[in-house]
Amino acid sequence: MNKIIFHGHSFIEIKHKEYTIYIDPFIEGNPLCYIKIDYVVCNYFILTHGHNDHVGNTIELARAKDVKVIGMVELCDYLESKGVKTHGMNLGGAYNFPFGRVKLTLAHHSSSITYENQLGEYEYHYTGNPAGVILNIGEKTIYHAGDTALFYDMKLIGEMNKIDYAFLPIGDNYTMGIDDAVKAAEFMNAETVIPVHYNTFEAIKVDENDFKRKIESIGKKCVLMKPGDDLSFE
Ligand code: NI
Ligand code: MN
Repeated sequence: MNKIIFHGHSFIEIKHKEYTIYIDPFIEGNPLCYIKIDYVVCNYFILTHGHNDHVGNTIELARAKDVKVIGMVELCDYLESKGVKTHGMNLGGAYNFPFGRVKLTLAHHSSSITYENQLGEYEYHYTGNPAGVILNIGEKTIYHAGDTALFYDMKLIGEMNKIDYAFLPIGDNYTMGIDDAVKAAEFMNAETVIPVHYNTFEAIKVDENDFKRKIESIGKKCVLMKPGDDLSFE
């Protein structure tokens, strides 16, 4: 059975054949996530960028559970230096993994890992450009936009890929808000749109039903997934 499970924020789990893939596994600190670190069983993490609400517990989890991490080279180099096995890529490049094909696409955002130094000051480690992900898996094409602003090249992505499921951030403040994400959905021309990156924190509270209505008004399908909800696909 092939499944996509939503775990709140931008964290989605994909099950295909014997593989389990997590995109942006934000677990601890994600008030919407029901997964407990101890129960994680996964083969690959795909990270869209280095921000803590996307990388989450990647370092300890990947080391403890033998998970390979796929992402931008600079982010992967940083993780390798912490003892994580990775597969680094860059924008526009695709690679055939045992579970399917991954391509990193543009995302207009920033990307760094924040940590506290010994003086208690915040420091930032640059982790390359942020990315979106196109995943060809089974018979389906899944687009996970990562964190991004609206950009016109989404139209090109939609022209060159028949996207079945588009996961788009709608929470505003850090990413596209509702109206920009509706435009993105139009550009992507996806069969089904699923909003992500909203209502996790106060700054990204929006009315997801307003998004659904607007998506339906342009003749597209919108599925609102609650944390733990899943979609089956071929
Ligand atoms: Ni971010
Ligand atoms: Mn984010």
